[in-house]
Amino acid sequence: MTELILQTKDLRKTYHPGTVQAVEALRGIHLDFEKGRYYAIIGKSGCGKSTLLHILGALDTPTAGQVICAGEDVFGRSRNALAAFRRRQIGFVFQSYNLLQEHTVLENILMPLHLDGRDADEEYLHPIMEMLEIEGLVHKFPSELSGGEQQRVAIARALSAKPAIVLADEPTGNLDPATGRHTLALMQHTMEQLGQTLILVTHDMDIAEKAHVLIRIHQGEIVDVT
Ligand SMILES: Nc1ncnc2c1ncn2[C@@H]1O[C@H](COP(=O)(O)OP(=O)(O)OP(=O)(O)O)[C@@H](O)[C@H]1O
Ligand SMILES: [Mg+2]
Repeated sequence: MTELILQTKDLRKTYHPGTVQAVEALRGIHLDFEKGRYYAIIGKSGCGKSTLLHILGALDTPTAGQVICAGEDVFGRSRNALAAFRRRQIGFVFQSYNLLQEHTVLENILMPLHLDGRDADEEYLHPIMEMLEIEGLVHKFPSELSGGEQQRVAIARALSAKPAIVLADEPTGNLDPATGRHTLALMQHTMEQLGQTLILVTHDMDIAEKAHVLIRIHQGEIVDVT
């Protein structure tokens, strides 16, 4: 049985609407995301990938259309409910890792939990750190780690609050191809074990082809879902 976890209906985003600089970044996106599956989003620079990912994770708001999670319109919720959705349902992994430099690896990983006033679940987190091969790094600072290590820490951080959905925007873009693919394989394996949904933006076709579903965007529109 497949379960819809996230859906978009006629999603549109226009930057600077009504002005001469108006940019229609998304032009009516309809997508269904099923629980536990791995989606890759590909398309040329500027086609709207990051815009879509940010709206899916409620980091930005659409100009029109809906994002539906568990049957409910995400942007129809109160501000508090929207913030709770972001903290509890969504994990983000960015291209530039975005780790807090003055905090240790462990503190970084636990940050989303602390922000939500929750304690760490050791039984959940330990296998994740093992699978991502970072158990030995927990007391180090980000500046002491390689790029690949920092990105694996950022992935653990995205997973620590047990999100149902992880959104990753070119997470391996700053890594050499071999390290990038290894990092992605570890992430995919970890998320499969946890039954989480991964939505990943990538320029690397070798990575995209490992996804269950490949979504192609061109100039703000979906051109192919395979
Ligand atoms: N904050 C913003 N204000 C105005 N225009 C924006 C803003 N962010 C993005 N855009 C425009 O919206 C379009 C889509 O941008 P987006 O960042 O979603 O592309 P992308 O597919 O992620 O590209 P890349 O592969 O280079 O990261 C582009 O034309 C971009 O210039
Ligand atoms: Mg982008």
